[in-house]
Amino acid sequence: MKRVITYGTFDLLHQGHINILKRAKALGDYLIVGVTSENYDTTRGKLNVAQSLVERIENVQKTGLADEIIVEEYMGQKISDIKKYKIDIFVIGSDWQNKFDYLKPFCDVVYLPRTKGVSSTELRNEQNKILRLGIVGNGRIAKRFIKESKFVSGVDVDVVYGRNPQKLEELCLNYGLEKYYTDYSKFLNDVDAVYVALPHTLHYEYSKQALLAGKHVLCEKPITLEEEKTKELFDIAHEKGLILQEAIKTVYAPCFDKLISIAQSGIIGEIKDIDATFTKLITDKSLREFNPELGGGSLTELGSYPLSLITKLLGTHPEKIEYTAMLEPKNNIDLMNKVTMFYPNAVATANVGIGIKKEGNCVISGTEGYIYIPAPWWKTEYFEIRFEDLNKTQKVFVKFDGDGLRYELAEFLKSINTHKQSYKLSDKESIFISKVIEQFKKKKNSVFYIV
Ligand code: CTP
Repeated sequence: MKRVITYGTFDLLHQGHINILKRAKALGDYLIVGVTSENYDTTRGKLNVAQSLVERIENVQKTGLADEIIVEEYMGQKISDIKKYKIDIFVIGSDWQNKFDYLKPFCDVVYLPRTKGVSSTELRNEQNKILRLGIVGNGRIAKRFIKESKFVSGVDVDVVYGRNPQKLEELCLNYGLEKYYTDYSKFLNDVDAVYVALPHTLHYEYSKQALLAGKHVLCEKPITLEEEKTKELFDIAHEKGLILQEAIKTVYAPCFDKLISIAQSGIIGEIKDIDATFTKLITDKSLREFNPELGGGSLTELGSYPLSLITKLLGTHPEKIEYTAMLEPKNNIDLMNKVTMFYPNAVATANVGIGIKKEGNCVISGTEGYIYIPAPWWKTEYFEIRFEDLNKTQKVFVKFDGDGLRYELAEFLKSINTHKQSYKLSDKESIFISKVIEQFKKKKNSVFYIV
């Protein structure tokens, strides 16, 4: 009996897929189809797959051509599968010509001509028109975002809004943008969605105006510095059927998603303690991070990262939140902040600092073990699940590519196309993070050290 195997994403199953499955089956007696998992797709840069793994498997099943369906989860799996399933022929489309020659020592490798004129990418683009996303602001993060947007298909980042024409012209030239606007209303008329990359204190106003104009908003963290304002923005978004998403890049990273699921699975028992640290020494005191008028300080600058992790695992209802902050006397901003959150059955600490350097790791402790995420944990790509018995340690790795902003953009696009807020960061969680920041601004339960 001749056994054949082929692999693919099989997103929005089309005639090209059916043709290759038919031809692959005709080469032998038994056909195994490997469908790529969501995680594997993300790690190999396919960020815009429209259908879930289950839907894609169901569609392959419905063709009646596969004798067996397996899931492809990691790089290098093909060799193991070929050995495990005693495969005689590996089949793939001609778009992969020569790319799988390394499998030749294990079985025959056949490249079949690709069906012309159809692909999942085209179907996705037809289904969801390309999103025209404009950038609001031209600072450091805006530039990083433009670079990262090249890794996400289905979105055009070609327009920018700002106040200084000279700087905007330079940005357009250096980053290949089509045009800039200094009039916000005109800018909004030209886009479907915006990425708000302004100083924190301006997020509310610019996001609100964009939402009222019917545009989806991806807003840098923290969305606003007040609970009520963040809530108001989400209310407007819901009323108008728009997506508002807070750009905390960590929560959209594939490894972080895995981390949360594993932590919640009970493998370390009940979570009792979380300790997460993020410090970034900023020496240039002229930057907005040191300007109280622009919402400077370590909690507003970095708090969103540990707070989102804590919130995802322990929820939005701590009984008490305490702040211990080291203040700079001149401008009164927090150079360091330790936020302790007391939950009914657990305690968590978020340590942040822009004037102090600490080990940037994170430990999630439970009654049966703990999860250790080494620095920089907020660019999550590796963690260990540890127990009393060191021999039981498990290690998890999922790559974090580039600056990571591609993940938040891909998720934003997915939410717009599916008309669903991402589960990776809910509006409740964003509103709660604003509340934690607001309470500190109002000096609630705060102890200050002046240096
Ligand atoms: N395939 C084909 N003819 C097409 C499209 C795909 O023969 N017109 C083959 C691919 O070569 C591969 C298999 O179908 O062997 C699964 O491909 P997949 O990547 O899932 O489909 P694409 O349409 O190429 O997806 P995308 O546009 O996302 O790359």
